[in-house]
Amino acid sequence: MPVDLSPIDKAKYAAARRSVDLVENRMRVGLGTGSTAAWMVRALAERVKDAGLSITCVPTSERTGDLARDLGLQVVTLDEAKWLDLTIDGTDEFDPNLNLIKGGGGAHLREKVVATASDRMVVIADPGKQVAQLGAFPLPVEVLAFGLTATRALIEEMLASIDVLSRQVSLRMNGDTPFVTDEGNHVLDLHLGRIGNPRQLALVLNQVPGVVENGLFIDICDQVIVGHPDGRVEIHDIDGGATPGDRVEFDEPENIFADLGD
Ligand code: 5RP
Repeated sequence: MPVDLSPIDKAKYAAARRSVDLVENRMRVGLGTGSTAAWMVRALAERVKDAGLSITCVPTSERTGDLARDLGLQVVTLDEAKWLDLTIDGTDEFDPNLNLIKGGGGAHLREKVVATASDRMVVIADPGKQVAQLGAFPLPVEVLAFGLTATRALIEEMLASIDVLSRQVSLRMNGDTPFVTDEGNHVLDLHLGRIGNPRQLALVLNQVPGVVENGLFIDICDQVIVGHPDGRVEIHDIDGGATPGDRVEFDEPENIFADLGD
């Protein structure tokens, strides 16, 4: 039951639960990846069932697709959907301009493709994701396996002329082998501490041959819903300011909270 959840999971659930109120009948909805997005998929499946909605969903990862199908949501590819009304996803950081660092789960490539093919991107977050300036969270960069060493060297060289606090680059591992994304690529994590100009860095990174996509989401997110452990939510809108939303009650059916695999 929700009362047994950790404070952070209660905060994630509150944001996720509030976000699915934005989903209306016949919408095509992008589903993000990560633990907060997994709460959202569960809350969405409940809402679809309770409100009798007919929607189609496009997941941003294989694991989100598996979860959505298991919960009975109708899953299609982005090409089948063509365009989306709304994407709801988590984040690793968001700043006052609603620019994001994403990719902690290694799904930022598909997440960016899906979010930018949507009329609206809504991010769901716990309070720890809010930062004054991006960069404390290592910036994920998806790179081709081919020429990985050269790509890494070019990124390190490029970083020398970029306004950041530190310049350490690491290859993301999965045990003893490099982590592999759903697209079959690897991820370099850039430990930058602080990113002075995220817009510039996002553009420059994608100029490096071998870089597939970086985890900076600039001017993509329209709204961030922050949940708190006591069920309060606040809405950060791109048009300015944060406003309190309705408190989420933790009285949902038990099945939402069973077998959370993410
Ligand atoms: C996955 C992501 C996630 O949205 C991000 O890592 C946040 O994850 P969580 O909700 O588990 O904190 O970008 O690639």
